[in-house]
Amino acid sequence: MTYRPVRLGVLGLGRAFMLMLPTFRNDERVRLVAAAAPRAESRDAFVAEFGGRAYGTVEELAADPEIDAVYIATPHQMHADHVEAVAAGGKHILVDKPLAVTLDDADRMVAAADAAGVRLIVGPSHSFDPPVGLARQIIAAGDYGKVRMVQAFNYTDFLYRPRRPEELRTEEGGGVLFSQGVHQIDIVRLLCGGRARSVYAMTGAWDPERPTEGAYTAILDFEGGSFANLTYSGYAHFDSDIWMDDVSELGGCKDPASYGVARRALCDLDPEAEAQLKQTRTYGTGAEPPRPEANEHFGPIIISCDRADLRLMPGGVEVFGDETRSFIKSPLDPAPRKPVIDALVDAVHRDRAPVQTARWGRASLEVCHAILSSAARRKPVTLTRQTGIETEETQL
Ligand SMILES: NC(=O)c1ccc[n+]([C@@H]2O[C@H](COP(=O)([O-])OP(=O)(O)OC[C@H]3O[C@@H](n4cnc5c(N)ncnc54)[C@H](O)[C@@H]3O)[C@@H](O)[C@H]2O)c1
Repeated sequence: MTYRPVRLGVLGLGRAFMLMLPTFRNDERVRLVAAAAPRAESRDAFVAEFGGRAYGTVEELAADPEIDAVYIATPHQMHADHVEAVAAGGKHILVDKPLAVTLDDADRMVAAADAAGVRLIVGPSHSFDPPVGLARQIIAAGDYGKVRMVQAFNYTDFLYRPRRPEELRTEEGGGVLFSQGVHQIDIVRLLCGGRARSVYAMTGAWDPERPTEGAYTAILDFEGGSFANLTYSGYAHFDSDIWMDDVSELGGCKDPASYGVARRALCDLDPEAEAQLKQTRTYGTGAEPPRPEANEHFGPIIISCDRADLRLMPGGVEVFGDETRSFIKSPLDPAPRKPVIDALVDAVHRDRAPVQTARWGRASLEVCHAILSSAARRKPVTLTRQTGIETEETQL
């Protein structure tokens, strides 16, 4: 069935919006009709590119009657207030990950969406990446038995990308857990059924100039018996993309000559100059998003099932079976992040929820906090707010 395009409003025209541009420019199922942002420069650029209306506040955007849904791409600590405002206007919501920084905020967001009767999708997140969806289909087909163990591993330059000061303060949502760990947690929860029982973790905050967590390793155990090991380092040394066909997280081809570029760009910058550098990478500055040449990914991930190991790659899933090894392709869609727009269309036109609802996002956020707490206490932490991959009825 063909539906009319979803009329989307955007809140926040920064880096995250920039990374959605290849999707918004190429997916005909969505039409950008309005935006709200504090910077006049980005509002003007939006109207010049997409037409439509540009507002200064979330309340004006939420009150616009010609909008079906709003993509919230503001800093994470603002997500809860913004979700409440948009839900009060009766619009469906796509809110970028993480759902929030605190679990109290996450509770407010679940309640706001429920009270308004709107759908809330937490995304984009790498759990929507097509090879993850393909792996889920392969697992569901049952030929290889149950998922027993997942290894998820990612070494990046995350901590040395230009940041606003609060992005380097853990209590305000800074560091690798809330921005990066949540992708890995979402993927692993999807593959292992969603309901983690406990976490045992260590974290590293090794650079006094950037005194937030830059690394962690965590063991999760799941209802059903599977377990997972999640490791992340954002310290800009080893780069695990060399094990992903030299494809970057965003699907671009990586040039080995660019080694060290992130740290070099920050050399001698004070926090204000660094925040300004971040601003130059956002919408309305003339900067353009990287062009994906392959599917996005979140580092090497290996899923051990009874009768095969599955390796997620940008181009698909490699299956190491009992006797044969094969590769199942996952083609790059001309409009990247298609599964995110599938979820948006389902929410707006079919009143259907994806797995990545507000409750799902809250459960992934609980794991982020549990990793921090386990590392601080040197003890396993029991999880109490997990959700599974539930049916439509149980999500409501
Ligand atoms: N999924 C992804 O690939 C991805 C990538 C980057 C960031 N993110 C997420 O997106 C969110 C934003 O991060 P970012 O890196 O784009 O930050 P950013 O600072 O580049 O952008 C945030 C934007 O929000 C705007 N803003 C601030 N207050 C506002 C308000 N009251 N109303 C409207 N707009 C307001 C700012 O002007 C800025 O342009 C974060 O939650 C982050 O985790 C996701």
